[in-house]
Amino acid sequence: MKIQNNYNLSKLNTFGILAKAKFFVEINNETDLKELFDIGEFKNNEKLFLGGGSNVLFTKDFDGLVIFNKLKGIEILKEDSKNVLIKSMGGEMWHDIVIFSVERNLWGIENLAFVPGTVGAAPIQNIGAYGVELKDTLENVEVFDIETGEKKVLDKEECKFGYRDSVFKNELKGKYFITAITLKLSKTPARQLAGGENKKKIYPALEKYLVENKIEIKNSKDISDAVTAIRKSKLPNPEVIPNAGSFFKNVFVKEIEFKKLQKTYPNIPFFKENGEIKIPSGWLIEQCGPANGTSWKGYRLGNVGVHDKQALVLVNYGGATGEKVLNLANKIIANVKEKFGLKLTPEVNLI
Ligand code: EPU
Repeated sequence: MKIQNNYNLSKLNTFGILAKAKFFVEINNETDLKELFDIGEFKNNEKLFLGGGSNVLFTKDFDGLVIFNKLKGIEILKEDSKNVLIKSMGGEMWHDIVIFSVERNLWGIENLAFVPGTVGAAPIQNIGAYGVELKDTLENVEVFDIETGEKKVLDKEECKFGYRDSVFKNELKGKYFITAITLKLSKTPARQLAGGENKKKIYPALEKYLVENKIEIKNSKDISDAVTAIRKSKLPNPEVIPNAGSFFKNVFVKEIEFKKLQKTYPNIPFFKENGEIKIPSGWLIEQCGPANGTSWKGYRLGNVGVHDKQALVLVNYGGATGEKVLNLANKIIANVKEKFGLKLTPEVNLI
């Protein structure tokens, strides 16, 4: 295990921001973890766990220890006539476990195809797309307590999942290093298969794509291929235009508040979820702009901008600083607040 100083993180964050870590270390196995925290040398340093770097914005250099999760391995733990338990180490790329599952025609995470980032990062923000969230299939999360060196297993309830939220973003922030997760996948299509009584549960954008392209779903790979194609058409490829996916979360309001908004904006899109109304922030951002009659969508100022096909995504056209991206985000937040009275919150972790 090698601790490096003044480490350049630009290739380790999909926003491509040039930032340096005071200390940097790669964790390749569990012995590395034990060793690192046994030394005690870094006890008083701030720590940042990094996976795929697809959900962070470095607004300055990191004055602490960056711990890069490279724990690898995917295995089948258990199998019965209905379900398969799959364990994946935290340093695997999330999409690789989707591939592992659809190659075996297992169901449950095919809608989460092509979500960037690592397996270890997935529970932190309870990744979600096309009507499915990680929590729907998650069995447990294995962690390493960096204070005590103890290994623990947290079940789904202990993870306190919410929309793009979990205990790892709140009470347990920075306390546990996620070593592995276990998922319970199904041998039969639970709800994503087109047709039959489950049809209504297909997320509208996905269904539209399936119908338009006359795709008949025969196995879970058909869904993951469709989701991958939609994501590729809507979201910028970070290798071409660096970005961190959705920069903001969608907004949830109470029904009564929504009714008022709907009076002023009859076309406002919405989704009913868990007794609340979800308003797509992408739409709110699209309705606002840097000047009267303009939209943020497709806006560019120097080397930062808002993606032209999905207004939730901020992009770095090359050489942008985290501060520049944050400035743009703050302008958008203020503008949406002024027009709609709604507060956008970043989904991306600001460092
Ligand atoms: N919309 C607009 N303008 C835009 C973008 C969206 O009007 O520029 C409106 C449209 O009404 C559209 C609706 O928003 O029908 C929903 O758009 P979309 O299906 O693209 O989903 P989203 O709510 O904008 C969320 C996730 C994405 C995920 C998609 C697909 C969040 C913060 N984002 O976006 O996740 O891929 O759903 O399910 O919840 C990510 O986390 O990085 C990410 C890309």
